[in-house]
Amino acid sequence: MDSLLWNEINEQPDVIRRLVADEVDLIRRLGVKLRKKPFRFIFLAARGTSDNAARYGQYLFGAVNRLPVALAAPSLFTVYHTPPALESALVIGISQSGESPDIVGVLEEARHQGAATVAITNRQDSPLARAAEHVLMIGAGEERSVAATKTYTTQLAVLAMLSMALDDRLSEDAFAPVVAWMENALKAEPEARASAERIADSDRAVVIGRGYQYCTAHEIALKIKELAGVEAEPYSTADFQHGPKAMAEAGMPAIFITIGPTFRGETASLADALRGQGARVVLIGDMETGAQSGDFKIPVALGEPEWLTPIAAVIPGQLLAFHLARARGLDPDQPRHIRKVTRTN
Ligand code: F6R
Repeated sequence: MDSLLWNEINEQPDVIRRLVADEVDLIRRLGVKLRKKPFRFIFLAARGTSDNAARYGQYLFGAVNRLPVALAAPSLFTVYHTPPALESALVIGISQSGESPDIVGVLEEARHQGAATVAITNRQDSPLARAAEHVLMIGAGEERSVAATKTYTTQLAVLAMLSMALDDRLSEDAFAPVVAWMENALKAEPEARASAERIADSDRAVVIGRGYQYCTAHEIALKIKELAGVEAEPYSTADFQHGPKAMAEAGMPAIFITIGPTFRGETASLADALRGQGARVVLIGDMETGAQSGDFKIPVALGEPEWLTPIAAVIPGQLLAFHLARARGLDPDQPRHIRKVTRTN
C-alpha cells in the first residue's frame, strides 16, 4: 500500500526485534546504576502518544516493580512554578522528538532537585536528552508519518526492559513472544478494514479497555481522532459505568480491547449492556468475551505475560484507525491541522 503510515505500522515487529538486541546491555547496566541510589517512586512526564506510553508505565512499574507511580502535571513546573518534591523519585521523560519545552522543564527541575533522571527518546541530540542524566534511545529510525506508531511501541518496549532491569532480570528472550504477537496482530488487517468500513458513518465512538489495556484504549482513541476525525473517547470498563454509559445510544461504535482473562467477565457484561442500548460492538482481542453475531470482530491471540501484551495489542487499533481515515475520505499520512512536532509550555 502506498502510505508512509502503513509502512511504519508494518515495520514494528522488526523494529522491536532490533531495539531489544541493540539496547539490552545498556539498559541492564542502567538498572545496576539506578539500583545504587534507591528511589521511592517513579514520576513520568510526556504528552500525547508518549503520555499513553507513560500510562503503560503506571501499570507496569506499579504491578511488576510494586512502585508508586505518578504522571506529571507539567504546568506545575512551567506555568505555576510550584514543582513537587522529587529528590526521592526516578523521573522519566518520554518523547519521540525530545522537543516539547514543558516535558524538558520537568526533567530539568527534577535534575536540579537531585532526582535520578532518564530520557526515553528517538533523538539523541534533543533538548530532552540533554536535560536528563541518562538517555535510552528507542531506536525506531525516523518516523516520517505525523501519527506516532512505531515510536509508541518502541517506547513501551523500552519501559518494559527498564522495568525488568530494575529488578535485575532483563533478558532478550523475554521479547521473542512479543515480536511473534506483533506479527500475528498485523494479520488482523482484513478484519480491521472491514470493521472500519462498517463504522465509518459515525462521528463518535468510545474505546474501552482496562488494566494493562487502558493505555491501549487511550492510544487507539487518539489514533482514531487524529487520523479519522472521529471523536473517540477512551474509558476503562469501570469508569464507563460511572456516568458515561448514559450516552451510549443506537449506532454508536463501542470498541472493546479484550486481551486475556483478567477483565473478560466485566467486559462481556458491559458489551451486553451496550448492545442492549443499541451500540455497535467492535471487539479487538481474543474472542472469548462472548462475541455475538452482530459484532465486528478483529481477532488477535496474544499470550502471557499480560504486562507485555500492550506492545502488540495496539496494532489492530492502528490498522482500524488507518482504514477508518481512508473510509472517511481522509489521507492517513496527512492528518488535518497538526504537525509532527508540537511544542507546548
Ligand atoms: C500522536 C502524536 C502526538 C505526539 C505528541 C508528543 O500520533 O504523534 O500525540 O505523541 O505530540 O510528541 P513527542 O513524543 O515528540 O513529545
